[in-house]
Amino acid sequence: MKRILFVCLGNICRSPAAEGVLRAKARDRGMSLYIESAGTGAWHAGDPPDARMIKAAGRRGYDLSHQRARKVTDADFFEFDYLLAMDLSNQVDLLEVAPPNRECDIRLFLDFADSETRETPDPYYGGDQGFEHVLDLIELGAAGFLDHLEDESE
Ligand code: 4NP
Repeated sequence: MKRILFVCLGNICRSPAAEGVLRAKARDRGMSLYIESAGTGAWHAGDPPDARMIKAAGRRGYDLSHQRARKVTDADFFEFDYLLAMDLSNQVDLLEVAPPNRECDIRLFLDFADSETRETPDPYYGGDQGFEHVLDLIELGAAGFLDHLEDESE
Protein backbone atom coordinates (compact mmCIF):
# COMPACT_ATOMS: atom_id res chain seq x y z
CA MET A 1 0.00 0.00 0.00
CA LYS A 2 1.35 3.44 -0.94
CA ARG A 3 2.06 5.79 1.96
CA ILE A 4 1.41 9.50 1.46
CA LEU A 5 2.32 12.40 3.78
CA PHE A 6 0.97 15.88 3.04
CA VAL A 7 3.11 18.70 4.37
CA CYS A 8 2.36 22.39 4.96
CA LEU A 9 3.63 24.94 7.48
CA GLY A 10 1.30 24.65 10.47
CA ASN A 11 -0.53 21.37 9.70
CA ILE A 12 -3.83 22.97 10.67
CA CYS A 13 -5.20 24.28 7.33
CA ARG A 14 -3.90 22.96 4.01
CA SER A 15 -2.28 19.58 4.69
CA PRO A 16 -5.01 18.25 7.02
CA ALA A 17 -7.58 19.21 4.37
CA ALA A 18 -5.53 17.41 1.69
CA GLU A 19 -5.31 14.37 3.97
CA GLY A 20 -9.09 14.26 4.44
CA VAL A 21 -9.92 14.92 0.79
CA LEU A 22 -7.48 12.32 -0.60
CA ARG A 23 -8.70 9.73 1.91
CA ALA A 24 -12.30 10.25 0.78
CA LYS A 25 -11.46 10.32 -2.96
CA ALA A 26 -9.30 7.19 -2.67
CA ARG A 27 -12.12 5.39 -0.88
CA ASP A 28 -14.55 6.47 -3.64
CA ARG A 29 -12.25 4.83 -6.20
CA GLY A 30 -11.73 1.70 -4.08
CA MET A 31 -8.03 2.47 -3.68
CA SER A 32 -6.19 1.55 -0.47
CA LEU A 33 -3.76 4.25 0.65
CA TYR A 34 -2.16 5.14 3.97
CA ILE A 35 -2.41 8.94 4.38
CA GLU A 36 -1.20 11.36 7.07
CA SER A 37 -0.24 15.03 7.23
CA ALA A 38 2.36 17.05 9.11
CA GLY A 39 3.80 20.56 9.38
CA THR A 40 7.33 21.86 8.95
CA GLY A 41 6.62 23.91 12.10
CA ALA A 42 5.52 22.63 15.53
CA TRP A 43 3.49 25.63 16.78
CA HIS A 44 0.19 23.78 16.53
CA ALA A 45 1.32 20.25 17.46
CA GLY A 46 -1.56 18.36 19.08
CA ASP A 47 -4.19 20.82 17.82
CA PRO A 48 -7.18 19.92 15.63
CA PRO A 49 -7.37 21.61 12.21
CA ASP A 50 -8.36 25.29 12.11
CA ALA A 51 -12.09 25.60 12.89
CA ARG A 52 -12.66 27.48 9.61
CA MET A 53 -11.16 24.57 7.65
CA ILE A 54 -13.12 21.94 9.60
CA LYS A 55 -16.29 23.86 8.73
CA ALA A 56 -15.50 24.48 5.04
CA ALA A 57 -14.41 20.86 4.50
CA GLY A 58 -17.44 19.59 6.44
CA ARG A 59 -19.77 21.40 4.03
CA ARG A 60 -18.22 19.33 1.23
CA GLY A 61 -18.57 16.08 3.17
CA TYR A 62 -15.02 15.73 4.55
CA ASP A 63 -14.71 15.21 8.31
CA LEU A 64 -11.37 16.57 9.54
CA SER A 65 -12.38 16.90 13.18
CA HIS A 66 -10.43 13.88 14.48
CA GLN A 67 -7.10 14.83 12.92
CA ARG A 68 -4.32 16.31 15.09
CA ALA A 69 -1.33 18.38 14.03
CA ARG A 70 2.24 17.14 14.29
CA LYS A 71 5.66 18.16 13.04
CA VAL A 72 7.53 16.31 10.27
CA THR A 73 10.04 13.80 11.70
CA ASP A 74 13.22 12.23 10.28
CA ALA A 75 11.43 8.88 10.15
CA ASP A 76 8.84 10.34 7.76
CA PHE A 77 11.49 10.46 5.00
CA PHE A 78 11.80 6.68 5.20
CA GLU A 79 8.28 5.60 6.14
CA PHE A 80 6.39 7.38 3.35
CA ASP A 81 6.55 6.89 -0.42
CA TYR A 82 5.50 10.47 -1.16
CA LEU A 83 5.94 13.67 0.81
CA LEU A 84 3.56 16.09 -0.94
CA ALA A 85 4.32 19.74 -0.24
CA MET A 86 1.48 22.24 -0.40
CA ASP A 87 3.67 25.17 -1.52
CA LEU A 88 7.19 25.77 -2.77
CA SER A 89 8.52 26.96 0.57
CA ASN A 90 7.24 23.75 2.20
CA GLN A 91 9.05 21.75 -0.49
CA VAL A 92 12.29 23.73 -0.04
CA ASP A 93 12.08 23.30 3.75
CA LEU A 94 11.67 19.54 3.32
CA LEU A 95 14.55 19.26 0.84
CA GLU A 96 16.79 21.19 3.27
CA VAL A 97 16.30 18.72 6.13
CA ALA A 98 15.86 15.53 4.05
CA PRO A 99 18.40 12.81 4.92
CA PRO A 100 20.57 12.08 1.84
CA ASN A 101 19.53 8.42 1.86
CA ARG A 102 15.81 9.24 2.04
CA GLU A 103 13.47 6.81 0.34
CA CYS A 104 10.56 9.12 -0.51
CA ASP A 105 9.66 11.39 -3.42
CA ILE A 106 9.35 15.01 -2.28
CA ARG A 107 6.91 16.58 -4.73
CA LEU A 108 4.73 19.64 -5.06
CA PHE A 109 1.16 18.34 -4.66
CA LEU A 110 -0.42 20.53 -7.35
CA ASP A 111 2.11 19.33 -9.94
CA PHE A 112 -0.25 16.34 -10.16
CA ALA A 113 -3.31 18.59 -10.67
CA ASP A 114 -4.85 19.64 -13.96
CA SER A 115 -4.16 23.25 -13.00
CA GLU A 116 -1.81 26.10 -13.87
CA THR A 117 -1.50 26.84 -10.17
CA ARG A 118 1.45 25.05 -8.57
CA GLU A 119 1.07 26.26 -4.99
CA THR A 120 -1.77 25.92 -2.50
CA PRO A 121 -1.89 29.39 -0.86
CA ASP A 122 -1.90 29.66 2.92
CA PRO A 123 -5.47 30.67 3.93
CA TYR A 124 -4.61 31.25 7.61
CA TYR A 125 -4.65 35.06 7.63
CA GLY A 126 -7.41 35.51 5.05
CA GLY A 127 -11.19 35.21 4.85
CA ASP A 128 -13.57 32.31 4.25
CA GLN A 129 -13.13 32.51 0.48
CA GLY A 130 -9.48 31.49 0.88
CA PHE A 131 -10.54 28.22 2.48
CA GLU A 132 -12.93 27.47 -0.40
CA HIS A 133 -10.19 28.22 -2.93
CA VAL A 134 -7.79 25.88 -1.10
CA LEU A 135 -10.40 23.10 -1.11
CA ASP A 136 -11.02 23.61 -4.86
CA LEU A 137 -7.29 23.25 -5.56
CA ILE A 138 -6.97 20.23 -3.25
CA GLU A 139 -9.87 18.44 -4.96
CA LEU A 140 -8.13 18.96 -8.33
CA GLY A 141 -4.82 17.79 -6.87
CA ALA A 142 -6.37 14.70 -5.32
CA ALA A 143 -7.96 13.65 -8.62
CA GLY A 144 -4.68 14.15 -10.49
CA PHE A 145 -2.61 12.35 -7.88
CA LEU A 146 -4.95 9.33 -7.85
CA ASP A 147 -4.80 9.23 -11.68
CA HIS A 148 -1.00 9.22 -11.37
CA LEU A 149 -1.03 6.31 -8.91
CA GLU A 150 -3.42 4.37 -11.13
CA ASP A 151 -1.19 4.96 -14.21
CA GLU A 152 1.87 3.93 -12.20
CA SER A 153 0.31 0.64 -11.13
CA GLU A 154 -0.72 -0.37 -14.68
P1 4NP B 1 -1.16 25.79 7.18
O1 4NP B 1 -1.52 27.28 7.63
O2 4NP B 1 0.34 25.76 6.90
O3 4NP B 1 -1.96 25.59 5.95
O4 4NP B 1 -1.54 24.90 8.33
C1 4NP B 1 -0.88 27.91 8.70
C2 4NP B 1 -1.39 27.80 9.96
C3 4NP B 1 -0.77 28.42 11.03
C4 4NP B 1 0.37 29.17 10.81
C5 4NP B 1 0.90 29.27 9.56
C6 4NP B 1 0.27 28.63 8.48
N1 4NP B 1 0.99 29.83 11.89
O5 4NP B 1 1.96 30.55 11.66
O6 4NP B 1 0.56 29.68 13.03
